Amino acid sequence: MCEISEKLEKAKEYICKRAGIKPAVGIVLGSGLGNFAERAEIVSEIPYEDIPCFPRSTVEGHKGRFVFGKIGNTPVVIMQGRVHYYEGYPMEDVIMPARIMGLLGIKTLLLTNAAGGVNKGFSAGDLMLIKDHISCFVPNPLIGKNLSELGTRFPDMSEVYDRELSGRIKACAESLGTELKEGIYCQLTGPSYETPAEIKMLSVLGADAVGMSTAVEAIAARHMGVRVCGISLITNMAAGISEVPLSHEEVKEAADKAEVKFGALVERFIAGLSE
Ligand code: 6GU
Repeated sequence: MCEISEKLEKAKEYICKRAGIKPAVGIVLGSGLGNFAERAEIVSEIPYEDIPCFPRSTVEGHKGRFVFGKIGNTPVVIMQGRVHYYEGYPMEDVIMPARIMGLLGIKTLLLTNAAGGVNKGFSAGDLMLIKDHISCFVPNPLIGKNLSELGTRFPDMSEVYDRELSGRIKACAESLGTELKEGIYCQLTGPSYETPAEIKMLSVLGADAVGMSTAVEAIAARHMGVRVCGISLITNMAAGISEVPLSHEEVKEAADKAEVKFGALVERFIAGLSE
């Protein structure tokens, strides 16, 4: 197995040859945006399995490819399907796609996900702008030798989710008449959902939503100086807040229902970045 920096370089080289466009913005699609790439004027598609040294997604319903194209006038790279820590990959592989998008030259990264609602003021189907995150229940993705060509050993995390970008997302939601909640996203490893006691703990700690992705990708992107923003789709209320047991089916169903409003919001935001 080669070094992380070699793996990044090999994967990047391969992608560069096939992409056909230089992206300015990266978008990671969570559940609820699986078909978002249909809104893009597509230039190329690269399945993860074609990319050397690249981890493969194993979750059912996650397609596993990069899509290059344009949303409005904005050149984008879309990650259709991400890599999760609970699949058993080392954290360095989980954040590899985010790092590659950084190496491809993106200046902005939009992270999306499906999450459970912890805040009692939320309900299933809500969209939540991510104001900040709690990542300390999962290993920090930057543990190990620092890749100084990417960033500093001790990167600042005092504003992971960019204020200006977040303001743009809020303005887009308002102009579309789409309600947008705001809150703090907490990443846990999964794959089991939380117990009611754990959700109570997260609530005391200030979390508004809980999921199994995003925060580590945000950290990796900030390490590289990429501007980050994020939106969660609340697919269900978390354990103890919801009376009913949670199921992945319920999550997928809610995600499908929200697809149109979520997609419209993301499309307007991304297109607006080049206006
Ligand atoms: Cl309740 N928990 C976690 N960890 N991830 C989720 C979720 C809950 N609902 C959707 N994704």
